[in-house]
Amino acid sequence: MNITVIGTGYVGLVSGICYAELGHHVVCVDKDLSKVEILRNGGIPIYEPGLQELSAKNTAAGRLSFTGDLRQAVGQADIVIIAVGTPSLPNGEANLSYIDQAAVEIAQAMNGYKIIAVKSTVPVGTNERVANLIRSWTSERFDSISLPEFLREGSAVQDTLHPDRIVIGADSQEAADTMAELHKPLTDQIVVTDIRSAEMLKYASNAFLATKISFINEIANICEKVGADVTRVAEGMGYDKRIGHAFLKAGIGYGGSCFPKDTRALIQIAGNVDYEFKLLRAVVEVNQDQRMSVIRKLETIFDGELSGKTIAVWGLAFKPNTDDVRESPAVEIIQYLVRSGARVKAYDPIAMQNFKTMHGDNGVMWCDDALEAATGADALCLLTEWEEFVRVDLGQLQSLLRKPILIDGRNVFKEEDLADTAFIYFSIGRPR
Ligand code: UGA
Repeated sequence: MNITVIGTGYVGLVSGICYAELGHHVVCVDKDLSKVEILRNGGIPIYEPGLQELSAKNTAAGRLSFTGDLRQAVGQADIVIIAVGTPSLPNGEANLSYIDQAAVEIAQAMNGYKIIAVKSTVPVGTNERVANLIRSWTSERFDSISLPEFLREGSAVQDTLHPDRIVIGADSQEAADTMAELHKPLTDQIVVTDIRSAEMLKYASNAFLATKISFINEIANICEKVGADVTRVAEGMGYDKRIGHAFLKAGIGYGGSCFPKDTRALIQIAGNVDYEFKLLRAVVEVNQDQRMSVIRKLETIFDGELSGKTIAVWGLAFKPNTDDVRESPAVEIIQYLVRSGARVKAYDPIAMQNFKTMHGDNGVMWCDDALEAATGADALCLLTEWEEFVRVDLGQLQSLLRKPILIDGRNVFKEEDLADTAFIYFSIGRPR
């Protein structure tokens, strides 16, 4: 099939490359010509393991190309996939201006029947809005499909090629069948729904995962007070198949470009139809507060006086294996430390440049490696569970810190790891 993907962000780029890997002819379109240039030259504008190799392979095979010319790319497509961004508006609602713009441009380029699928995460009713917009510009026939995406950053290629399920929201059986055929090589679990349910399903999935995280974080906070260990609690809970082990890792809360944005958007979607989503409001509030648990621990240790202290920060990305710092807990934690007069020494294996670009230098001392950041610090805060932090030589680390205070915001160390050390160790929801 000839597939055109509009938008080369995480979702668009990974999907486009993976459709090419399945043997289809894919054109990825982006307005940002500097991005197109990078992609044409074999580069990848985002950090995503395995993506560059897959892009090179499929480009060389003549199945994958990149362009800024939407009209031509849409003209030759059987299926057009919209995967542009839907950032938050100040009130939490999704900003649909990029979607609308793409719809109009697609309409202007229509030259015959096509399937038009929306992969961006969009509020219920958006596919209808897109269809109406297109219809107002062209009389060419088309079918709308809601095609929500469930990939995770850092394992996007794996998630796309081996998804748990594919969701297809359609009001045409024929178009649903074509889309099911396209995704059949990836999974047997294809869920076909009406368009509105597919749109809702995506938000409901992210909101539920965010709820699991905030739930376990609150259990962790109670564990700290009653002397229980949240990791053992979560482990024991997870063996119940109805609960499961996934997304019960306590820590400093969720971040990234999806959960914070999508939870806010769903609260707003509900509000727009006069429904107050109380549970999700609490999830968001708990998550916000959880970031400060690192600060609360530091303030307890230093009797409320962070000014003049040197604090090492390990990890800026919102999770490991990505350079993404959007809504990362590290942002607010570092800003708070700097505001409190602490001297922050920070290190992340790959997210430092992004952090500086998005949030400025902030008076932070950027370090070339993890041990340099720790050297001479009064305390070390681990904020992202990068493998290289987990594997650190704790004996050497202890000798470099001015005071062996370690705040493990991701519960990566076990009691036995610390047994022969003098670390004063704090984690989230565990006795030690
Ligand atoms: C998330 C979903 O997992 C994907 O299914 C979805 O497609 C994507 O959003 C999206 O809507 O595009 P992602 O944001 O890449 O994917 O990251 P996750 O791996 O889900 O992690 C999200 C955050 O939750 C991270 O900050 C992580 O540290 C945190 N987390 C996750 C926890 O604190 N505890 C856990 O047990 C799991």
